[in-house]
Amino acid sequence: MSLPKSDLTKQADGRVTMQLGAVLPKTAEVRDGHLFIGGVDMVDLAHEQGTALYVFDEVDLRDRMEQYREAFHECYPNSEALYASKAFLNKEVLRIANEEGMFLDVSGGGELACARAVGFPMERVFVHGNNKTEHELREAIEAGVGRIVLDTRIELGRVSRIAGEMGKTQKVLMRITPGVEADTHEYIKTGCEDSKFGFTMLEDFAFNCVGDVLNVPNVELVGFHCHIGSQIFALHSFDEAVQVMVEFVARVRERYGIEVEDLDMGGGLGIAYTVDENPSSIREFAECTANAVRKYCAQYSVPEPRLLVEPGRSLVANAGVTLYTVGVMKTLPNIRKYVGIDGGMSDNIRTALYHADYEAVIANKADEPRVEIVTLCGKHCESGDAVVLDGSLQHPDLGDIVCVFGTGAYCYTMSSSYNGQPRPAIVFVRDGAARVVTRRETYEDLMARDI
Ligand code: LLP
Repeated sequence: MSLPKSDLTKQADGRVTMQLGAVLPKTAEVRDGHLFIGGVDMVDLAHEQGTALYVFDEVDLRDRMEQYREAFHECYPNSEALYASKAFLNKEVLRIANEEGMFLDVSGGGELACARAVGFPMERVFVHGNNKTEHELREAIEAGVGRIVLDTRIELGRVSRIAGEMGKTQKVLMRITPGVEADTHEYIKTGCEDSKFGFTMLEDFAFNCVGDVLNVPNVELVGFHCHIGSQIFALHSFDEAVQVMVEFVARVRERYGIEVEDLDMGGGLGIAYTVDENPSSIREFAECTANAVRKYCAQYSVPEPRLLVEPGRSLVANAGVTLYTVGVMKTLPNIRKYVGIDGGMSDNIRTALYHADYEAVIANKADEPRVEIVTLCGKHCESGDAVVLDGSLQHPDLGDIVCVFGTGAYCYTMSSSYNGQPRPAIVFVRDGAARVVTRRETYEDLMARDI
């Protein structure tokens, strides 16, 4: 069965692809019925490397990093984009982020250790976390990180003491919760008032704490941070957050007499997980935040600070896909068809956790229409273990290679070895070549720490 012409589409650069819009990585194409990414046949790759397998389109990844850098530098020259490494972390993605001139957002000691291992310039690293341990703070200050983003007054005391012991002055930002309700999933909303993160603005707590930060030795307050949530489609939420933050900066200036160097607006730009989703572009996000900073700085008569953003998902999600092999199938008449794949909640917890949506295709039938509605279920001992719930797929057969799109963010970093499932390998593809950048976990790895 081959597709009616309209189901495949010719892109401006001549590639023939499925009509999956912004879900597809940049170099995806269909050749002789097979899905190719980075010039590599996903079916051959799955057979060579085994499945489940995470695959990243390196051109796509670098392109988005470049877009962030260029869009922000053009819209607001005094700006930097930090890669939020919680979205996807291994050494290679950090090497690439470094080569592409990104700054880096690390959350906790493990992410920092990875950055140090690849020689990421520490002055470009910002350290986050709502409960950084004494040990993590010590490592960060010792390493010479550019900024520590203070989350609490308790932490302020720790940073001051540790920096003092080391004879250093640590530059810090204060993380503020601006009370802006972003239009996103409740679990990944962070900026609103009822939040474990940051200094609340309620009862002017954050404002009063600015005085504490200024009065403490060995700490230099250089700016403010907020992060209003993730997978945000409504750009006006960022405009609103900028207004709250700039107004705050203006009050701080008036009361404490300090000029703020940095305004860090966090991450959160949404991406397309499904074909009908139409997120704002990186350029639109840059224009919106840059215009908002200029507009509100003029309105509140404060000098324009350096603008920082911390994208995670919008840099890596659509660059990554996961390949699986169909191992079993089960049809429940009038209920649903289960297609059993050799992975699941261990490599992608997002569906079980957030009921996330994904598009999937069969890589060896990429030119056929997706005529069935199936649930791609995982192999774990948990009923909620699925990667795609009631999604379209070509007619499946045992042994087919399934490709799930948009899995580049928050899948590998949130993976587990539940049921003793070794984590998949990670392969980067580019110009017809594939290279393993993280090898598959082995049974020995799973037991390596056991006595
Ligand atoms: N900066 C801070 C302080 C953050 O907490 C986050 C994400 C980011 C930047 C990056 O946000 P992004 O650009 O990726 O939206 N596990 C959830 C997402 C949690 C996001 C946590 N913080 C998911 O799988 O959807």
